[in-house]
Amino acid sequence: MKKTRKIIVAIDGPAASGKSTTAREVAKKLGYTYIDSGAMYRAVTLQALHDKIPVEAQQEVAQLAQRIEMKFGWNNARTIIFLDGKDVSDKIRTPLIDQKISPVAANPQVRKILVEKQQQLGRSGGVVMDGRDIGTVVFPQAELKIFMMARVQERAIRRQKELEQKGIKVDLEQIVADMEYRDKQDAGRSHGPLKKAADAVEIDTTGLTILEQVERIYQLAVQKIAEVTGTV
Ligand code: CDP
Repeated sequence: MKKTRKIIVAIDGPAASGKSTTAREVAKKLGYTYIDSGAMYRAVTLQALHDKIPVEAQQEVAQLAQRIEMKFGWNNARTIIFLDGKDVSDKIRTPLIDQKISPVAANPQVRKILVEKQQQLGRSGGVVMDGRDIGTVVFPQAELKIFMMARVQERAIRRQKELEQKGIKVDLEQIVADMEYRDKQDAGRSHGPLKKAADAVEIDTTGLTILEQVERIYQLAVQKIAEVTGTV
């Protein structure tokens, strides 16, 4: 029997389109590593706020991105991110970080540093990575690219539920407004904008369950692995 080749699965899309939950589950089924690239931009933003560095201060924020050490860990439910050894998984996923992150994500030097880290993490394949520019910039050679989207109202309800589970109450209108603002910033920046790669498969997750999303992408991955391994 031929040894199967390990591929890269790149999943991009707007805020709360279901990327991370889906990506994590797909990775689990494939026995691959899941990397949440958004967690890295979030961690840099958190550290800037902690150090009282204005998020717009490009040079200082880039130095910080260079300096901090980020490590990933996993438990059953989610990705754990360690920032200089401390578990900051909860702290990076708050409405405050959502509101402050855009200038950090638009900072070309920060992007360069984080893209290199991401490429390093995926260099031997066998990864599922989600973000905004994974299929376009980080891994343009990825064998499978997915672009996930969903209606903004549905995405906002999902985000509200996620926050509620952590005891954070936010108005739905506020979430819609924050999300639309962030998506607009993500799509409009000149470096690594949110964009569907020409060869990405588009999946609209409005009305789909997580299980259905996972199954669709998993099947596409299995098919791709068979193709690149030469068994079909
Ligand atoms: O969970 P959600 O989709 O809301 O966000 P995320 O994937 O954690 O990403 C948070 C923010 O980080 C995004 O709004 C982008 O501004 C930025 N980001 C990015 O610029 N490039 C990536 N590859 C991933 C995230």
